[in-house]
Amino acid sequence: MKKVSKISKRKEEHLEICLEKDIESSISAGFERIDIIHQALPDIDFTKIDISTSFLGKYLNAPLLISSMTGGSPKGEKLNAILAEMAEHHQIGMGLGSQRAAIEDESLSATFKIRKYAPNIFLFANLGAVQLNYGYGPNEIQRAIDMIEADALFLHLNPLQEALQPEGNTNFSSLLPKIEALCKQIETPVFIKEVGCGINANLAKTLIDAGVAGIDCAGLGGTSWALVEAERQTDEDLKDFAKSFGNWGIPTVDCLLDYRKNKIECPIIASGGLRSGLDVFKSLALGANLAGMALPFIKAANAGSDALHQLIERIMLELNISMFNSACQNLSDISFSKIVVKE
Ligand SMILES: Cc1cc2nc3c(=O)[nH]c(=O)nc-3n(C[C@H](O)[C@H](O)[C@H](O)COP(=O)(O)O)c2cc1C
Repeated sequence: MKKVSKISKRKEEHLEICLEKDIESSISAGFERIDIIHQALPDIDFTKIDISTSFLGKYLNAPLLISSMTGGSPKGEKLNAILAEMAEHHQIGMGLGSQRAAIEDESLSATFKIRKYAPNIFLFANLGAVQLNYGYGPNEIQRAIDMIEADALFLHLNPLQEALQPEGNTNFSSLLPKIEALCKQIETPVFIKEVGCGINANLAKTLIDAGVAGIDCAGLGGTSWALVEAERQTDEDLKDFAKSFGNWGIPTVDCLLDYRKNKIECPIIASGGLRSGLDVFKSLALGANLAGMALPFIKAANAGSDALHQLIERIMLELNISMFNSACQNLSDISFSKIVVKE
């Protein structure tokens, strides 16, 4: 079997597992530790609440991101079309899944080409940072960006997944100077994200000093790639082994609190276990600029456009009601003073 078709097959397997199995960590992202302070007299007209924002100069109807997920396989192509159409309809941001399959086999690039459905959205390209140790350089990265006319690039860090994946790329040594060089070599802003284990403030600071434009913490509390990889194992011992890492990582709320404490100043995206508009509000109050969700959106997209539309509307309504009941007319009114962090 060709290496490329192996990647495409793996992507399809990941997708099926995420859609069908219970692959969320049993440790929470931490949002139950945050209370939004209620204001019984908000002095606001509910109908005038404004949840629009701009991200790196581009307008968004809401501070929402469909996190990086798919592409590179037939089912991924179909779901990308549904996700992209709804992202365009609601004018929210979107990330595509790792484009490595299409870098290695140009014929798969069609599975990522969603600009025909979503010409105006803020769109992130995506590749694994570790590929910089496996022959990728500015040319491959630029191809991924150009393939989808991306506004920004996500390089993902996924050492746990690579270590648990039978075919994983585990040489993570000396990546930082390569990321630093890349940030100088390409014009598109480079963001770093995890995939569900979180990025601590020290690393966030190091990455920003290296020239990275922003951070998506992608913390613990939602999709666990250890649990996804466990489902791919046929051997029971190997399955149990992978499962034992199912709660590995830094919960999303702890990542955001850590950034606040250490004064991390850059565009921050909160993701990992966000499941409602209340979680979006709490993330913004903790300092995030955008809130990303992956698993809820892919499950809804798999159920069809209507289901995805309803989910996005529900999240926006929950955000509006949270803002109304905490006396926030605009997103700029949401601040740390609007919440209580319980010990
Ligand atoms: C089906 C699926 C595929 C994913 N593929 C990628 C990927 O290719 N690149 C990436 O950076 N993250 C990928 N992720 C991780 C998400 O972008 C996100 O960081 C993580 O799932 C946590 O968010 P959640 O708890 O809302 O799912 C994927 C997640 C899912 C559910």
